[in-house]
Parts: sequence; structure tokens; C-alpha cells
Amino acid sequence: MAQSPLQSPYGGILGWIDARLPIPRLLDREYLKFRVPRNLNYFWSFGGILMMSLMLLIVTGLVLAMHYKPSADEAFASVEHIMRDVNFGWLMRYMHMNAASFFFIAVYLHIFRGLYFGSYKNPRELLWILGVIIFFLMIATAFLGYTLPWGQMSFWGATVITNLFSAIPIFGDSIVTWLWGGYSVDDQTLNRFFVLHWVIAFGIVAVVLLHVTALHITGSNNPSGIEPRKESETVTFNPFMTTKDLFGAFVFFGLFALVLFLAPNYLGHPDNYIPADPLVTPAHIVPEWYFLPFYAILRAVPDKLLGVVAMVASIGLLAALPWLDRSKVRSCVFRPVWRWLTLAFVVDFFVLMWVGAKPAEGIYVLIAQVGTAYWFIYLLILAPLVGKYEKPKRLPNDIHEFEDMKRRGEIRFLPFPLWPSGARRRNEEGAAVTPAE
Ligand code: HEM
Repeated sequence: MAQSPLQSPYGGILGWIDARLPIPRLLDREYLKFRVPRNLNYFWSFGGILMMSLMLLIVTGLVLAMHYKPSADEAFASVEHIMRDVNFGWLMRYMHMNAASFFFIAVYLHIFRGLYFGSYKNPRELLWILGVIIFFLMIATAFLGYTLPWGQMSFWGATVITNLFSAIPIFGDSIVTWLWGGYSVDDQTLNRFFVLHWVIAFGIVAVVLLHVTALHITGSNNPSGIEPRKESETVTFNPFMTTKDLFGAFVFFGLFALVLFLAPNYLGHPDNYIPADPLVTPAHIVPEWYFLPFYAILRAVPDKLLGVVAMVASIGLLAALPWLDRSKVRSCVFRPVWRWLTLAFVVDFFVLMWVGAKPAEGIYVLIAQVGTAYWFIYLLILAPLVGKYEKPKRLPNDIHEFEDMKRRGEIRFLPFPLWPSGARRRNEEGAAVTPAE
């Protein structure tokens, strides 16, 4: 007799639901029994941390939206009302503000992990591209959200960034007027930015679902960059990754709580506590810290249109990295040249972040130009060339051998020791050994 479609591995109410709508079975398969490589390090916890941060942003944003007034006359005062009068309004607002910053900290670490361990390579190209799309959506959401408190930085930030569209030939000015819904950033601009802010936030949730679906098709990469072939090279997601991710999240949100309760305005700009005034331009208009590297790229190029193109391309080109990087080897651990260049790329990111906060004059312009040049040289020239000519180290046969090589100190994640002695590892007899390069 054919098996009844109404059969489930579970009993009781869960079984009844599962037989009709097999979501419990799906969750069990994809999140509890799902197998991941046994050697994932804490960098692999940031995907889960990002999901938690996204949920926190949506829940706190929802509460804020219940009390916020998206009008040029009332927005600033309504935020002050949330901070002073609404029960726990201060907590909701500070959590939302700081969660946005921590969301970007987590996403930068998540992207770095992908770059360093080559997670963008075949077969995870689409997963990576979906990530780049998420990153663009995050930028749009954060930019729109920053306008909402209607402080000086909100207003002038929105004015500077929307004005970038005027660089588009012929239609530029009309596009800016269309975006504003008038002849300046004003009431109607704020209203539509409010709507777009949360619509795009839900768009992020949708793309994250695709991102995670794509991940569950290919499975996770790992620090060795070698695909597990045997079951012994993997572990079940639960309890191994659930506990590891929870511990990682505990530390991450512990740091978040420190900033939230001890210095909630540390990551923001004091000028945003001055109500927006179209007649007074702040001395320096600076974006939030997480936009500074891209702001530096924008200002490094003397031509406005080319500056905008460079800024968008600096992120968009990441989507082409799976094809720009020609190396067959995934992980930087086995790529002696590329890993230095990737670490230099990280340094470049911080240099651009620093210079993005400085006035665009004198030596700062030059530093921003050198930083921008390295950004593009890394992606467009070094990725294909080094990928083709670099001689990688000998790859282990499987993850077990990788773990043995690590234990013996034959390989290490970074090209330099993290602690000064460089001899923390011990051989079987207990003597200190210096990891060989
Ligand atoms: C809202 C933002 C994001 C969320 C919630 C998210 C979520 C996740 C989750 C849950 C995982 C699996 C766990 C892990 O490997 O950490 C993952 C993996 C991955 N994500 Fe994201 N992600 C986000 C943004 C991004 C961005 C911006 C990129 C790249 C531009 C990216 C690229 C990747 C890649 C390549 C993997 C596979 C990594 C591997 O297996 O080694 N993600 N993501």
C-alpha cells in the first residue's frame, strides 16, 4: 500500500502539524541535523549573530515606529518624546541605534571571513553575490534611517548624499527633485524615507532567507577551504554549532551591552542632537563611522560623477571577485602572497575609514587617493594576477590532516604569530615549538 502523505516522524500535536505542513521536519533537517565542517572557528558565528542583530533591529524599530512622527515639524520632538516619556523608549532607541552599528561590525567581520577563507569561490558564488546585495540594502536602510531623527547631520547627510544623483548626466537634477519630492530635502522627503527605511529592512529579511537557502545547498566552507568528503570531517549543527554560536553571540552582545549602557552616544555624532536647520550648514558633514571608507573613496576622486561611480564600484566589484580571483586554492592559509595582500586590504579599509572622517584637504586627499588606488588594484589587478602565478602551499588531503598540521604548528591562520613568544604550541614531549612558515 502507498505510504499515507499524512505521516510524520513526530507524535502528538507536532506530528499532526508536521504531517500537514512539514515545517518542523524542515527545521530539524536544516538546523539541527544539518552537518557542518568540524573545524569551523568563531568567524563562522557571525552569520547567526547577524540574524540575531537583524531581529533586534526589526523588533526595536517596530516599537519606535509606533511613537515616531515622520514629519519635518514633529520628527525631532517625537524622538525626544520617545527618549523621555515613552516607557523604556530610551532603551528601544539606544538599542536600535547601537544595534545598527554592531550590525555593521558583524557584517564587516563576516565579509572578512569570506575573503580570507575564500568562501566566495565555486560553488558559493551566488551565496556571496546575495551577500553583496544584502550589503547594498543595509547601506540604503542605514542611510535612510539616519535621516529620521531630523537632526543637523540627518538633514545635511541626506542633502549631500541625495545630491550625488545630480552627477548623472542630463537627468541628474530631475532625478534629485524626484527623490526629494520637491526642491529641497523637506517634509515629503522625510515621509518617504521613513517608508523606504522599513520596507527595505524587510527586503533584507527576504534576501537573507535566500542567502541561507543557498548556503544550505552548498554547505559551509571552513578555514582549510577543503570540502569535507567523509562524515567524520563534519559534525551536526546541533549541539556543536548551536552552543558555539550562542557563546559567540553572548560575547558579542556583551560588548554591545557595554556600549549601550555605558556610552550609548559614543558611536554617533553630537550634532545630531541639534534640530535640522536648512539655513545653518555644519562645519564638517560626516556620515556614520561604517560609511567612512566609502565616503573617503567618493571624495578621493576629483570628478563628482566618477567619485560616485568609484564608490558604488568599490562594493559592486566584490560581487565579481569569484571570477576575478583565478586561484584554485580557497583559503588564505595556503596562499602565501594573497594572504598578505588581503591583510593589507583590511588595513586599507581602516586607513580609508580614518581619512573619511578628516576634512577633504591637503595630505588627507592624497592618503584617500592612495587608499582608493589600492582598493581597486587589489580587486582588479592583484586578484587575477596573484591567483594565476602564486605558488600555494601543499594542501592537506582532508580536514583531519588540516587539524593535524595545525596542531603540529605547520600552518597558522595568520602569517605572523598572534602572541609575541610565537611558541605557544607544544610537541608530544611538552617542549615549546615555534610554528614553521
Ligand atoms: C544581514 C546580513 C547577513 C546575514 C543575516 C547573513 C547570514 C549568514 C548566515 C546565517 C550564514 C551561515 C553562518 C556563517 O557562515 O556565518 C552565512 C554565510 C555566508 N555569508 Fe552571510 N549574511 C549576511 C550578510 C552577508 C554579506 C554582506 C556577505 C558578503 C558580501 C555574506 C557572505 C556569506 C558567505 C560567503 C557565507 C558562506 C560562508 C562559508 O560557508 O564559509 N553574507 N551568512
